[in-house]
Amino acid sequence: MPIIRFVREGRDVECQPGENLRQVALREGLGLYGLKGNLGNCGGCGQCITCFVQVIGDNPDALSPLTEVEKVKLQRRPDNWRLACQALVNSSVIVLTRPQAPPANSKSLIKAATEAELP
Ligand code: FES
Repeated sequence: MPIIRFVREGRDVECQPGENLRQVALREGLGLYGLKGNLGNCGGCGQCITCFVQVIGDNPDALSPLTEVEKVKLQRRPDNWRLACQALVNSSVIVLTRPQAPPANSKSLIKAATEAELP
């Protein structure tokens, strides 16, 4: 079973292969959205671009390939950002939620998250 390591939250969450990243985060009660997304989001249709995650590390196949929606919506975002609602989890992966507003200690959190072996 894949593990999603949520860096900001300090949580490792098990999911089914092919499960939607947004749905896992919401099921686990994790703060996927910032203020704008909490006030209103598209419900996972790929239209509101409020469900960003930064994918940490080198495992390009851990998530499903970019969708056509993401190719448009993420044009001006870093290459390692995804829309959680568009990403299916193939294998274990490390993500930072809300990368547009990273925590002050994000570098140390990411370092620790990548140093600890994924179960
Ligand atoms: S929830 Fe709206 S783009 Fe992902």
